[in-house]
Amino acid sequence: MAENGVKSEPEQSPARSSQSKKKRREDFRFGPTLGEGSYSTVVLACEIATGKEFAIKILQKRHIIKEKKVPQVEREKKVLSRLDHPFFVQLYFTFQDTEQLYFGLSVARKGELREKIKQLGKFDLECARFYSAQIVSALEHLHSLNIVHRDLKPENILFNDKLQIQITDFGTAKELPQDDSGDSPRTSSFVGTAQYVSPELLKDKEICTASDLWALGCIIYQMLVGNYPFKAPNEYLTFQQILACKYEFPEEFDREAKDIIEQLLQLEPLERLGSKTRGGYQALKSHKFFTGIEWDKLLTQDPPKQM
Ligand code: ADE
Repeated sequence: MAENGVKSEPEQSPARSSQSKKKRREDFRFGPTLGEGSYSTVVLACEIATGKEFAIKILQKRHIIKEKKVPQVEREKKVLSRLDHPFFVQLYFTFQDTEQLYFGLSVARKGELREKIKQLGKFDLECARFYSAQIVSALEHLHSLNIVHRDLKPENILFNDKLQIQITDFGTAKELPQDDSGDSPRTSSFVGTAQYVSPELLKDKEICTASDLWALGCIIYQMLVGNYPFKAPNEYLTFQQILACKYEFPEEFDREAKDIIEQLLQLEPLERLGSKTRGGYQALKSHKFFTGIEWDKLLTQDPPKQM
Protein backbone atom coordinates (compact mmCIF):
# COMPACT_ATOMS: atom_id res chain seq x y z
CA MET A 1 0.00 0.00 0.00
CA ALA A 2 1.25 3.47 -0.75
CA GLU A 3 1.63 5.92 2.12
CA ASN A 4 -1.55 7.61 1.17
CA GLY A 5 -3.41 4.35 0.97
CA VAL A 6 -4.30 4.54 -2.69
CA LYS A 7 -1.58 4.46 -5.29
CA SER A 8 1.25 2.02 -5.20
CA GLU A 9 4.69 3.56 -5.49
CA PRO A 10 8.12 1.95 -5.19
CA GLU A 11 9.24 2.06 -1.57
CA GLN A 12 12.35 3.88 -2.66
CA SER A 13 12.87 5.84 -5.82
CA PRO A 14 16.03 4.69 -7.66
CA ALA A 15 17.28 8.26 -8.08
CA ARG A 16 17.54 8.71 -4.34
CA SER A 17 18.65 5.22 -3.46
CA SER A 18 21.92 5.32 -1.55
CA GLN A 19 21.80 8.75 0.12
CA SER A 20 18.21 8.87 1.27
CA LYS A 21 17.01 5.40 2.02
CA LYS A 22 13.47 5.16 3.30
CA LYS A 23 13.55 5.62 7.04
CA ARG A 24 11.83 3.21 9.42
CA ARG A 25 10.25 3.47 12.82
CA GLU A 26 13.26 1.64 14.31
CA ASP A 27 15.53 4.48 13.18
CA PHE A 28 14.02 6.80 15.80
CA ARG A 29 13.70 7.15 19.54
CA PHE A 30 10.24 8.53 20.20
CA GLY A 31 9.68 11.10 22.92
CA PRO A 32 6.76 13.17 24.18
CA THR A 33 3.61 13.96 22.21
CA LEU A 34 3.71 17.50 20.79
CA GLY A 35 0.17 17.72 19.51
CA GLU A 36 -2.95 15.76 18.78
CA GLY A 37 -5.48 16.21 16.01
CA SER A 38 -8.57 14.29 14.89
CA TYR A 39 -6.59 12.20 12.45
CA SER A 40 -3.02 12.36 13.68
CA THR A 41 -0.62 12.60 16.60
CA VAL A 42 2.62 14.59 16.40
CA VAL A 43 5.48 13.10 18.43
CA LEU A 44 8.99 14.41 19.08
CA ALA A 45 11.49 11.90 17.71
CA CYS A 46 15.26 11.68 17.62
CA GLU A 47 16.92 9.98 14.68
CA ILE A 48 19.36 7.56 16.32
CA ALA A 49 22.01 7.64 13.59
CA THR A 50 22.28 11.45 13.40
CA GLY A 51 20.87 12.74 16.69
CA LYS A 52 18.58 15.02 14.65
CA GLU A 53 15.17 15.83 16.06
CA PHE A 54 11.94 15.78 14.09
CA ALA A 55 8.27 16.28 14.84
CA ILE A 56 6.83 13.07 13.39
CA LYS A 57 3.18 13.18 12.45
CA ILE A 58 1.69 9.71 12.79
CA LEU A 59 -1.54 8.75 11.07
CA GLN A 60 -3.46 5.50 11.53
CA LYS A 61 -4.16 4.07 8.06
CA ARG A 62 -7.35 2.32 9.16
CA HIS A 63 -8.77 5.48 10.66
CA ILE A 64 -7.84 7.60 7.62
CA ILE A 65 -9.50 5.15 5.24
CA LYS A 66 -12.60 4.70 7.44
CA GLU A 67 -13.09 8.46 7.74
CA LYS A 68 -12.49 8.96 4.00
CA LYS A 69 -9.54 11.26 4.64
CA VAL A 70 -7.18 9.67 2.09
CA PRO A 71 -7.41 12.66 -0.32
CA GLN A 72 -6.70 15.03 2.57
CA VAL A 73 -3.58 13.11 3.59
CA GLU A 74 -2.38 12.91 -0.02
CA ARG A 75 -2.95 16.63 -0.41
CA GLU A 76 -1.04 17.47 2.75
CA LYS A 77 1.96 15.45 1.61
CA LYS A 78 1.88 16.93 -1.89
CA VAL A 79 1.52 20.54 -0.74
CA LEU A 80 4.15 20.25 2.01
CA SER A 81 6.65 18.79 -0.44
CA ARG A 82 6.13 21.75 -2.77
CA LEU A 83 6.82 24.30 -0.05
CA ASP A 84 10.35 25.53 0.46
CA HIS A 85 10.21 28.57 2.69
CA PRO A 86 11.45 29.21 6.24
CA PHE A 87 8.05 30.27 7.58
CA PHE A 88 6.45 26.89 6.89
CA VAL A 89 6.92 23.59 8.67
CA GLN A 90 9.18 21.52 6.42
CA LEU A 91 8.51 17.94 5.37
CA TYR A 92 11.83 16.02 5.44
CA PHE A 93 10.70 12.44 4.80
CA THR A 94 7.76 10.06 4.89
CA PHE A 95 7.57 6.33 5.52
CA GLN A 96 5.03 3.75 6.60
CA ASP A 97 4.58 0.44 8.32
CA THR A 98 1.59 -1.86 8.16
CA GLU A 99 -0.61 0.27 10.40
CA GLN A 100 0.70 3.82 10.23
CA LEU A 101 1.92 6.63 8.02
CA TYR A 102 4.76 8.84 9.25
CA PHE A 103 5.53 12.44 8.16
CA GLY A 104 8.90 13.78 9.37
CA LEU A 105 8.47 17.52 10.01
CA SER A 106 10.62 20.30 11.44
CA VAL A 107 10.10 20.80 15.16
CA ALA A 108 8.33 23.96 16.28
CA ARG A 109 8.96 23.79 19.99
CA LYS A 110 7.70 27.17 21.14
CA GLY A 111 3.99 26.52 20.82
CA GLU A 112 1.11 28.09 18.91
CA LEU A 113 0.37 31.74 18.14
CA ARG A 114 -3.02 31.15 19.80
CA GLU A 115 -1.33 30.22 23.10
CA LYS A 116 1.05 33.18 22.88
CA ILE A 117 -1.84 35.64 22.40
CA LYS A 118 -3.67 34.03 25.33
CA GLN A 119 -0.57 34.21 27.52
CA LEU A 120 0.13 37.89 26.75
CA GLY A 121 -3.52 39.00 26.53
CA LYS A 122 -2.69 40.84 23.34
CA PHE A 123 0.40 41.82 21.36
CA ASP A 124 1.87 45.32 21.39
CA LEU A 125 2.15 47.08 18.04
CA GLU A 126 5.77 46.12 17.46
CA CYS A 127 5.10 42.44 18.07
CA ALA A 128 1.89 42.36 15.98
CA ARG A 129 3.64 44.18 13.14
CA PHE A 130 6.59 41.77 13.19
CA TYR A 131 4.49 38.60 13.12
CA SER A 132 1.97 40.05 10.65
CA ALA A 133 4.95 40.68 8.36
CA GLN A 134 6.15 37.08 8.76
CA ILE A 135 2.66 35.79 7.90
CA VAL A 136 2.47 38.11 4.86
CA SER A 137 5.88 36.89 3.70
CA ALA A 138 4.74 33.27 4.06
CA LEU A 139 1.45 33.91 2.22
CA GLU A 140 3.31 35.65 -0.59
CA HIS A 141 5.25 32.41 -1.16
CA LEU A 142 2.18 30.17 -0.81
CA HIS A 143 0.07 32.25 -3.19
CA SER A 144 2.91 32.52 -5.72
CA LEU A 145 2.51 28.72 -6.02
CA ASN A 146 -1.29 29.16 -6.38
CA ILE A 147 -1.91 27.30 -3.14
CA VAL A 148 -4.64 28.46 -0.74
CA HIS A 149 -4.24 27.34 2.89
CA ARG A 150 -8.01 27.61 3.59
CA ASP A 151 -7.66 27.17 7.36
CA LEU A 152 -5.20 29.85 8.39
CA LYS A 153 -5.61 30.60 12.11
CA PRO A 154 -3.41 31.11 15.19
CA GLU A 155 -3.66 27.38 16.08
CA ASN A 156 -1.91 26.56 12.79
CA ILE A 157 0.86 29.10 13.26
CA LEU A 158 3.60 27.60 15.44
CA PHE A 159 6.91 29.05 16.67
CA ASN A 160 10.35 27.45 16.38
CA ASP A 161 13.25 27.93 18.82
CA LYS A 162 14.16 31.25 17.17
CA LEU A 163 10.54 32.42 17.65
CA GLN A 164 9.95 32.51 13.91
CA ILE A 165 6.58 31.39 12.63
CA GLN A 166 6.07 27.91 11.20
CA ILE A 167 2.75 27.60 9.42
CA THR A 168 1.40 24.08 9.51
CA ASP A 169 -1.63 21.90 8.73
CA PHE A 170 -1.99 21.65 4.97
CA GLY A 171 -4.58 18.87 4.97
CA THR A 172 -7.23 21.31 3.77
CA ALA A 173 -5.01 23.36 1.44
CA LYS A 174 -6.09 23.65 -2.18
CA GLU A 175 -3.85 23.78 -5.23
CA LEU A 176 -5.41 26.02 -7.87
CA PRO A 177 -4.62 25.31 -11.54
CA GLN A 178 -1.26 26.76 -12.62
CA ASP A 179 -2.81 29.17 -15.10
CA ASP A 180 -5.22 30.45 -12.46
CA SER A 181 -4.80 34.05 -11.41
CA GLY A 182 -5.54 32.91 -7.87
CA ASP A 183 -7.98 35.76 -7.56
CA SER A 184 -10.77 34.03 -9.42
CA PRO A 185 -12.91 31.90 -7.16
CA ARG A 186 -13.19 28.09 -7.21
CA THR A 187 -15.97 26.16 -5.59
CA SER A 188 -15.13 24.37 -2.40
CA SER A 189 -17.04 22.07 -0.09
CA PHE A 190 -14.63 22.67 2.78
CA VAL A 191 -15.52 25.25 5.43
CA GLY A 192 -12.64 26.15 7.73
CA THR A 193 -12.90 27.43 11.27
CA ALA A 194 -15.94 29.63 12.01
CA GLN A 195 -14.10 32.72 13.27
CA TYR A 196 -11.76 32.94 10.24
CA VAL A 197 -13.99 31.76 7.42
CA SER A 198 -14.35 34.17 4.52
CA PRO A 199 -17.72 35.56 3.37
CA GLU A 200 -17.29 34.18 -0.18
CA LEU A 201 -17.01 30.66 1.20
CA LEU A 202 -20.14 31.11 3.32
CA LYS A 203 -22.12 32.74 0.53
CA ASP A 204 -21.13 30.96 -2.67
CA LYS A 205 -18.88 28.10 -1.47
CA GLU A 206 -16.11 29.87 -3.36
CA ILE A 207 -12.46 29.99 -2.47
CA CYS A 208 -9.48 31.95 -3.85
CA THR A 209 -6.08 33.07 -2.58
CA ALA A 210 -7.75 36.22 -1.20
CA SER A 211 -9.67 33.99 1.24
CA ASP A 212 -6.38 33.63 3.16
CA LEU A 213 -6.11 37.46 3.16
CA TRP A 214 -9.47 37.62 4.97
CA ALA A 215 -8.05 35.21 7.60
CA LEU A 216 -4.94 37.42 7.82
CA GLY A 217 -7.17 40.42 8.63
CA CYS A 218 -8.84 38.38 11.40
CA ILE A 219 -5.45 37.30 12.79
CA ILE A 220 -3.96 40.85 12.84
CA TYR A 221 -7.11 42.00 14.67
CA GLN A 222 -6.82 39.12 17.15
CA MET A 223 -3.14 39.81 17.85
CA LEU A 224 -3.86 43.48 18.66
CA VAL A 225 -7.20 43.10 20.45
CA GLY A 226 -6.80 39.70 22.09
CA ASN A 227 -10.12 38.48 20.72
CA TYR A 228 -11.75 37.56 17.41
CA PRO A 229 -13.28 40.31 15.26
CA PHE A 230 -16.33 38.11 14.58
CA LYS A 231 -17.58 36.38 17.72
CA ALA A 232 -21.06 35.34 18.72
CA PRO A 233 -22.68 32.73 20.98
CA ASN A 234 -22.92 30.23 18.13
CA GLU A 235 -21.59 29.51 14.63
CA TYR A 236 -24.75 30.64 12.86
CA LEU A 237 -24.57 34.10 14.47
CA THR A 238 -20.83 34.29 13.83
CA PHE A 239 -21.51 33.61 10.14
CA GLN A 240 -24.18 36.35 10.08
CA GLN A 241 -21.65 38.84 11.45
CA ILE A 242 -19.06 37.79 8.85
CA LEU A 243 -21.57 38.13 5.99
CA ALA A 244 -22.45 41.63 7.24
CA CYS A 245 -18.76 42.43 7.93
CA LYS A 246 -19.89 43.56 11.37
CA TYR A 247 -17.07 44.06 13.84
CA GLU A 248 -15.77 46.86 16.04
CA PHE A 249 -12.47 48.31 17.08
CA PRO A 250 -11.67 49.22 20.67
CA GLU A 251 -11.35 52.96 21.38
CA GLU A 252 -8.00 54.59 20.64
CA PHE A 253 -6.94 51.82 18.29
CA ASP A 254 -3.83 52.51 16.19
CA ARG A 255 -4.84 54.27 12.97
CA GLU A 256 -2.62 52.31 10.57
CA ALA A 257 -3.51 48.97 12.15
CA LYS A 258 -7.20 49.84 11.80
CA ASP A 259 -6.68 50.78 8.17
CA ILE A 260 -4.87 47.58 7.18
CA ILE A 261 -7.47 45.40 8.95
CA GLU A 262 -10.28 47.30 7.20
CA GLN A 263 -8.56 46.86 3.85
CA LEU A 264 -8.18 43.11 4.42
CA LEU A 265 -11.67 42.53 5.81
CA GLN A 266 -13.42 43.50 2.57
CA LEU A 267 -16.47 41.43 1.68
CA GLU A 268 -15.44 41.39 -1.98
CA PRO A 269 -12.23 39.28 -2.36
CA LEU A 270 -10.97 41.37 -5.28
CA GLU A 271 -11.07 44.48 -3.09
CA ARG A 272 -8.80 43.04 -0.39
CA LEU A 273 -5.40 44.65 -0.11
CA GLY A 274 -2.84 42.17 -1.45
CA SER A 275 -5.15 40.55 -3.99
CA LYS A 276 -3.87 40.91 -7.57
CA THR A 277 -6.51 43.51 -8.36
CA ARG A 278 -5.47 45.54 -5.34
CA GLY A 279 -1.75 45.81 -6.06
CA GLY A 280 -0.74 42.30 -5.01
CA TYR A 281 1.81 41.70 -2.28
CA GLN A 282 3.79 44.81 -3.19
CA ALA A 283 0.85 46.99 -2.14
CA LEU A 284 0.21 44.96 1.01
CA LYS A 285 3.87 45.12 2.09
CA SER A 286 3.98 48.86 1.37
CA HIS A 287 1.07 49.64 3.73
CA LYS A 288 1.94 52.17 6.43
CA PHE A 289 1.28 49.60 9.15
CA PHE A 290 4.49 47.89 8.00
CA THR A 291 6.64 51.02 8.20
CA GLY A 292 10.02 50.01 9.60
CA ILE A 293 9.77 46.37 8.51
CA GLU A 294 12.84 45.21 6.61
CA TRP A 295 11.26 42.51 4.50
CA ASP A 296 14.49 40.82 3.47
CA LYS A 297 15.76 40.70 7.07
CA LEU A 298 12.69 39.17 8.74
CA LEU A 299 14.48 35.88 9.17
CA THR A 300 17.62 37.18 10.81
CA GLN A 301 16.08 39.78 13.12
CA ASP A 302 15.67 39.22 16.83
CA PRO A 303 12.09 38.56 17.89
CA PRO A 304 10.21 41.51 19.46
CA LYS A 305 10.89 42.30 23.14
CA GLN A 306 7.38 41.31 24.19
CA MET A 307 8.04 37.66 23.19
N1 ADE B 1 2.47 20.13 16.70
C1 ADE B 1 2.02 19.90 15.46
N2 ADE B 1 3.01 20.00 14.57
C2 ADE B 1 4.12 20.31 15.27
C3 ADE B 1 5.47 20.55 14.91
N3 ADE B 1 5.88 20.50 13.65
N4 ADE B 1 6.33 20.87 15.88
C4 ADE B 1 5.91 20.93 17.16
N5 ADE B 1 4.68 20.69 17.56
C5 ADE B 1 3.77 20.39 16.62
